[in-house]
Amino acid sequence: MIFVDTHCHLNSEQLYKDYDNVKKDAEKEGVKLFIVPGFDLESSKIALKLAHEYENVYAAIGFHPTEIKHYSDLEYKWLEDNIKDDKVVALGEIGFDLHWDTTTLEEQMESFLRQIRIAKEVNKPLIIHSRDALNLTYQALKDNDCHLLGGVMHSFSGSIEMAKEFIKLNFYIGLGGPVTFTNAKDPKIVAENVDINYLITETDSPYLAPHPLRGKMNSPKNIPLIASEIAKLRGIDINDLKTIVLDNTKRLFRIKSDV
Ligand code: NI
Repeated sequence: MIFVDTHCHLNSEQLYKDYDNVKKDAEKEGVKLFIVPGFDLESSKIALKLAHEYENVYAAIGFHPTEIKHYSDLEYKWLEDNIKDDKVVALGEIGFDLHWDTTTLEEQMESFLRQIRIAKEVNKPLIIHSRDALNLTYQALKDNDCHLLGGVMHSFSGSIEMAKEFIKLNFYIGLGGPVTFTNAKDPKIVAENVDINYLITETDSPYLAPHPLRGKMNSPKNIPLIASEIAKLRGIDINDLKTIVLDNTKRLFRIKSDV
């Protein structure tokens, strides 16, 4: 049974320059299914290229809320055209980020609405980024009937109560490095108690390296550190967790092939 990394930026500057080895190193650790989300136009194009190059790499394409400032019809048209590609399994990562102030909330909302319209045309799920904006994100997903698409709350850092609300909206909970941090509270509570049929694993590499690598550059090969901690917190066998996470990932992203 394989490990899954549902959110790795092989398309980032740090990992892309050595992507073939990054991927091979992960496969040596048993990580054999990768989803690479875009965050701007260029990284979305690279995600698509990698997905076409490797059978077990899938792409998501989309514009992160901090990257949309100068985007116009041209960039959104590219999304519309390429979201139809068979190896594009989701639109993302999109959402809200009130931590940085490169874009206003109004601009973020406009881009969000525009991108979910694109996802709805092809009925593909959403990969949601939400930083310092969890209630706002919840309301936007709810107000716009996003339960019809489903998706994942990537790198979820909210409470178990909020996790349950997102699951009711048909959104999965993506857990990564923070569940392993020795001072983590909410992520451990969520890992232990969330409905296991809505839990998926991710590294968010090159960011958020798990303990004991915290602060270093992250890579998909670190998924076993994250999955082992989740299995330990839940008191289940790691192989059972692997089976469930793979099933969840294939269901959420409508992946039909045997991996
Ligand atoms: Ni990301």
